[in-house]
Amino acid sequence: MSLCVSKWSSDVRLEGKTAIVTGANTGIGKETAKDLAGRGARVILACRDMAKGEQAARDITREVKGAKVVARQLDLADTKSICQFAENIYNSGWHTHTHKTLHYLINNAGVAICPYAMTVDGFELQFGVNHLGHFFLTFLLLDLLKHSAPSRVINLSSASHAMGKIQFDDLSGEKDYHPVKAYAQSKMANILFTRELAKRTEGEGVTAYSVDPGLVNTEILRHIRRPLVDIFKTFGFLIKTPAEGAYSTVYCTVTPEDQLINGGLYRDCASVEPCRAGRDDGTALKLWAVSCHLLGIRWR
Ligand SMILES: NC(=O)c1ccc[n+]([C@@H]2O[C@H](COP(=O)([O-])OP(=O)(O)OC[C@H]3O[C@@H](n4cnc5c(N)ncnc54)[C@H](OP(=O)(O)O)[C@@H]3O)[C@@H](O)[C@H]2O)c1
Repeated sequence: MSLCVSKWSSDVRLEGKTAIVTGANTGIGKETAKDLAGRGARVILACRDMAKGEQAARDITREVKGAKVVARQLDLADTKSICQFAENIYNSGWHTHTHKTLHYLINNAGVAICPYAMTVDGFELQFGVNHLGHFFLTFLLLDLLKHSAPSRVINLSSASHAMGKIQFDDLSGEKDYHPVKAYAQSKMANILFTRELAKRTEGEGVTAYSVDPGLVNTEILRHIRRPLVDIFKTFGFLIKTPAEGAYSTVYCTVTPEDQLINGGLYRDCASVEPCRAGRDDGTALKLWAVSCHLLGIRWR
C-alpha cells in the first residue's frame, strides 16, 4: 500500500450488470475487471492479444469465486477490429440468457510515450488508440448503452492532460512529433470527449466520467527510457499498485449517479477540476467534429 492513497472500499454489488473493460489483460484494466467481477458483474475483457486476454480471464476466474468473465478481441489501432468487436457484442450469445445489455463501458486501454507510429488506419498511434479508437468504440456501442440505461462510460485520462494541447493542424504528428506531448494530447482528448459526450447523452440515461488514476506501477512505462523509470523508482512510495490505481475507476462505476458530476474528472475517488483547456467546450466541440470527420462517421 503506498502512502499517497487512502484505502477506498465499497460493498456495492453489480449482479445483473454487464461491463466492458478495454485493455483488461494487465495493469489497471485487469484490476478493474477483477473488482467488478467480484461484485457479481459480467465482465468482457476487450484485449488486442487474445492469448493474454484468455490468461487474464483464467487468472480472474481463479481469484474470484463464480466470476463471469470472457475475453474478446479488440485492437483499438484498427477500426475494422473495433467494428468486429462491436458486432460481436451485439450478436454474441454470451448474455442472451437475459437480454443484451451494457451498463459500463470502461475505456481503459492506452499506449504511452511511444516512438512515432501509426494505426492501421493511418492515425498517429497515441491519438489513434487512446482517443479515436475509444471514441469510435463508444459510438458503435451507444445504442446498447442507451438501451441498458442507466449506463456509464468511463474514460481513463491522466494528470498529464494538463500538458496537452489538441494540435488540430498536426493531428497526424507528421510535422512535429514528441512522444510526451502526443500522450498528453491524447489524455486531453479523453477529458474533452467525456465532457461533450455527457452533454450529448444528457436525459438519455447515459452518463460519462473521466478518471486520472495517479502514478501506477503497470506496464505503461514500457516505452520510457531508463533514467525516467529510475526517477519513478526513486519516488517509489508515491506509486500506486494496479489495484489502487483502479479505485477511481471503480468509484465512478459504483457510486450513485446523483453523487457524481456528469462529464467530470475523478482522481483519488473525488471530483477534481481538469486544467483550464480541459474545460474549453469550444475545443471539445471541435474535437468531436474532427474525430467524426477522421473516422468518416456522423454522430450528432
Ligand atoms: N500507469 C499510470 O501511471 C497511469 C497514469 C495515468 C493514466 N494512466 C492510464 O491508465 C490506462 C491504463 O494504463 P495502465 O497503466 O494499466 O497500462 P498498461 O499496463 O500498459 O495496460 C495498457 C493496456 O492497454 C492495452 N492496449 C494497448 N494498445 C491497445 C490497442 N491497440 N488495442 C487494445 N488494447 C490496447 C494493452 O494491451 P497489451 O498488453 O496487449 O499491450 C494493455 O492491456 C491508460 O489509459 C493510461 O493512459 C495510467
